[in-house]
Amino acid sequence: MPKKPIKTGLFITFEGGEGAGKSSQINILNNKLNKLHYNTLLTREPGGTAGAEAIRHVILSGGAEKFGPDVEAMLFSAARADHVENVIAPALKAGKTVLCDRFFDSTRVYQGATGKVNMDFLYALEKVACGDIWPDLTLILDISAEEGMKRANARRNNAIEPDRFEKEDMAAQEMRREAFRVIAENEPQRCKLINASGTEKEVAKRIWKVVEPVLKTKAV
Ligand code: TYD
Repeated sequence: MPKKPIKTGLFITFEGGEGAGKSSQINILNNKLNKLHYNTLLTREPGGTAGAEAIRHVILSGGAEKFGPDVEAMLFSAARADHVENVIAPALKAGKTVLCDRFFDSTRVYQGATGKVNMDFLYALEKVACGDIWPDLTLILDISAEEGMKRANARRNNAIEPDRFEKEDMAAQEMRREAFRVIAENEPQRCKLINASGTEKEVAKRIWKVVEPVLKTKAV
C-alpha cells in the first residue's frame, strides 16, 4: 500500500539586509493570514527555542567573533537544527503556515559572501540542520545599503549599541545585497526579490502579490 502523504503547511522565510523592513512586513503578512483564518507560526533566526536564543546571545553580543566566521556559521547552524526540529517541523506537520524571519540564506550571505566561509561547507551544514525541511517560498527584501542603514539607525534611534553585524561597514552591506540578489537569480522557484523601498503599505502589497498565488497552489 502506498504511504499516505504527510500533509504539511507552507514554509515562508523572509530575508534581506539591515533595515530592509523584514520584521514589520512579517507581522503585516502574519496579521493578514490570520484574518484569512490561516493558522500561522511566527518565528525568527537566530532564535526560536531556548537553546537557539542562548546561541543568539553568544553570537550577536560578539562573544563568538574571536573564533571566526566558520565557527559562527556552525553556531548559527546548531541553533537552526534545534529550531527546525523542535519548532518548525512540528508546526508544518500540524498544517501551520510558518513565517520565519531569516533562515539559511542569511548564513549563505553573512557568513558565506561577506565572511568568506566555503559555500560547500555551508550547504553541508544546511543539510544537517534542515534535513528535508526546506522553505517553499523565500521573500528577499531588497534595499540599497545606504537606505537600509538609515532605516536601521532610525529604528535604533542611535540609543542601543549596534549588534555584531550591524557594526560592519557600508561595503559589507552592499556586498550582502548583491549576494541576496544572486541567490534570487539562481533559485527563482523558491526565491522572490521584493523591492523594499517605499512605504510599508506599498511593500506589503508587493509581498501579497507574490504570496497569494503560492498559498493557492501549495497550502493544505
Ligand atoms: P536581528 O536582531 O535578528 O536583526 P535583523 O532585524 O537584521 O534580522 O539580528 C540577526 C543578525 O544575525 C543579523 O545581522 C543577521 C545575522 N545573521 C547571520 O549573520 N547569519 C545567520 O545565519 C542569521 C540567521 C543571522
